[in-house]
Amino acid sequence: MRFVDMAKPTEAGLNRLDALRSRAIGAFDGLYGYAPSFVVAAPGRVNLIGEHTDYNDGFVLPAAIDRHILVAVAPREDRAVRLYAADFDEMAAFGLDDLHSDADQAWSNYERGVAWALQEAHHALGGMDAVITGDVPIASGLSSSAAVEVATAHCFEVASGFELDGVERALLCQKAENEFVGMRCGIMDQYVISLGRREHALLIDCRSLESRPVSLPMGYSLVVCDTAKRRGLVGSEYNTRRQECETGARLLGLQALRDIGPEEFMVRQAELSEVIRKRCRHVVTENRRVLDAVEALRSGDLVRFGSLMNASHLSLRDDYEVSCPELDAMVEAAWRQEGVVGARMTGAGFGGCTVNLVALQAAEAFRHHVAQEYTQAIGLVPQVYICAAEERVRLLK
Ligand code: GLA
Repeated sequence: MRFVDMAKPTEAGLNRLDALRSRAIGAFDGLYGYAPSFVVAAPGRVNLIGEHTDYNDGFVLPAAIDRHILVAVAPREDRAVRLYAADFDEMAAFGLDDLHSDADQAWSNYERGVAWALQEAHHALGGMDAVITGDVPIASGLSSSAAVEVATAHCFEVASGFELDGVERALLCQKAENEFVGMRCGIMDQYVISLGRREHALLIDCRSLESRPVSLPMGYSLVVCDTAKRRGLVGSEYNTRRQECETGARLLGLQALRDIGPEEFMVRQAELSEVIRKRCRHVVTENRRVLDAVEALRSGDLVRFGSLMNASHLSLRDDYEVSCPELDAMVEAAWRQEGVVGARMTGAGFGGCTVNLVALQAAEAFRHHVAQEYTQAIGLVPQVYICAAEERVRLLK
């Protein structure tokens, strides 16, 4: 098998990005009556393996994908921020001296939160006029909100003349989401959007916050299948899972579940009640699967990589209990197809998307057959996206 260090972006991806950029600039001009000074693009993300491990100080292996949130911006002399969400035709405005969340314009709380977090960290911000658009599917588990956060942070950096280190940017965006928006997410999404590399996944150590790009195999696509099942339970169940993990770590006398390997866990698991035991078993075995998956990619063992993805799905379904009939049906349909290396649910769960590693020449047939079998089983029409691993947040030239 051949590996690439830095392949070129795909033509389809470039065309989509160009179209988005024209839309953002056109909408800016039409609304504000002058041209934007710059355009920032932040990718969505898909996680290959390492689910619900980030808030346990563990390991994750996500990739940024070639679906983007774009923000066209012009700095202002005053401290006002005006935002237009072109895809919903909604406007929001706020002042940098009076930042609070707004239930009527909930979509803008990500931008407000990022402004708040940057100022809490003593970065001097100026106002701006902005237009947001994008092609990251919303509420599907591909981190459109983290992409908005990271894009917003980068816009403030460029507009206000300072530059954040990628890890610091990710941490401030996570802080915005945790403390301002009120979702207790881990660091994975903001991190990979801030630091991901084209044609690579990123192995992130969520304790040390160090990361390493891992080459993805040439000749394969990341195929993302959206179940069209919206993730209703995600907020409350996510927080419950986090608490269960914290309880497990405390009962085992650990700082975090990162601090125990599967072998020792098997010996000690009888110390835990059934539910806590299952939650912890998922996290402990998933951390090991991530490291094994990176080794499998490094040595070109795709059969092993795929079986680790599949095992991750079963563990999320049976032990962590964050899958649902729609995700299971989509994954099972994928497992039946030719050219599939591995398939699993991705993201927080309870709906949203699956991630599939599929041979490039089989991807179109895969798209067609999985969609058909899924609709037959569940009665919903899914969206299937053939994606490439994309570059981190950036200023578009
Ligand atoms: C969401 C969170 C991430 C991570 C995943 C589950 O995407 O934002 O921090 O916890 O769920 O792996």
